[in-house]
Amino acid sequence: MTNDKLRSVNRELNRILPVKGKLARAIRYSIFAGGKRFRPLLCLATAKALGCSEKKVLRFACAVEMIHTFTLIHDDLPAMDNSNLRRGKKTLHKVVGEGVAILAGDALNTLAFKLIADEPAASKELSTALLEVVEGQVADIESANKKPTLKQLKAIHQWKTAALLKACVRGTARLCGASNSELNALTAYAEHLGLAFQIADDILDVTATRKALGKPVGADRTKGFPALVGLERSKKMAEAEKRKALDSLKGFGKKADVLRELAAYVIARGK
Ligand code: IPE
Ligand code: IPE
Ligand code: MG
Ligand code: MG
Ligand code: MG
Repeated sequence: MTNDKLRSVNRELNRILPVKGKLARAIRYSIFAGGKRFRPLLCLATAKALGCSEKKVLRFACAVEMIHTFTLIHDDLPAMDNSNLRRGKKTLHKVVGEGVAILAGDALNTLAFKLIADEPAASKELSTALLEVVEGQVADIESANKKPTLKQLKAIHQWKTAALLKACVRGTARLCGASNSELNALTAYAEHLGLAFQIADDILDVTATRKALGKPVGADRTKGFPALVGLERSKKMAEAEKRKALDSLKGFGKKADVLRELAAYVIARGK
């Protein structure tokens, strides 16, 4: 099922994105470099849990991936994480220069919102989340100079990562006409999933290889979860967040199994 979904997302992205010129090539380089597509899959899994068609949410799912890729391009810049590898390839600024990389990010951001401009409720979920992501990235930069408390680090992770995952489920829920109770349950699920996701990312930064991740390791060695609470406690905390994510789905039947699988996948990666 996941392979089919991945193909749909990639086909749609290919259809949507501009083709000609330097900017288009830069955008396509990063989008098709080989990301996991976790966020689009989360949108489609949410649609399934709500008994809603893939068609209704595919464009939104692509918009989220475009936003996500834009934040990665900027995250890798010398002014931020100064990274030379992303998705197993050279980072965009290493290939096209910082100027064009920044602008490719700008273009992806704008194209994403243009794509869903006729869906104001979903669009609002996404813009709200993106403002939190930016806030989180600012706090992340600051945390390099001043060690955050556990509470502060959790807040950074909620902003920089969980917010966008939350927008995946909430935006999809809006498009699918979910009830308030469904929306609340899915929101809780995504908040816990998002925290588990970033804790796992911090764990992998310490335990995995550059080759396996397709990005440099050790970058957040001094400011991630393991630095603050240790590796074992980080793993326990990620697991606890996953359990809370699953608990939030109690009111859903088998239709939410893909959401459950995604939560299991996040933890399995960080083990
Ligand atoms: C990386 O996200 C940035 C984080 C928020 C941790 P992913 O791990 O989803 O990266 P891709 O999309 O698969 O490259
Ligand atoms: C990036 O977090 C979060 C965003 C891009 C919003 P990280 O800096 O931990 O992501 P990686 O490890 O470079 O993928
Ligand atoms: Mg970063
Ligand atoms: Mg980074
Ligand atoms: Mg990281």
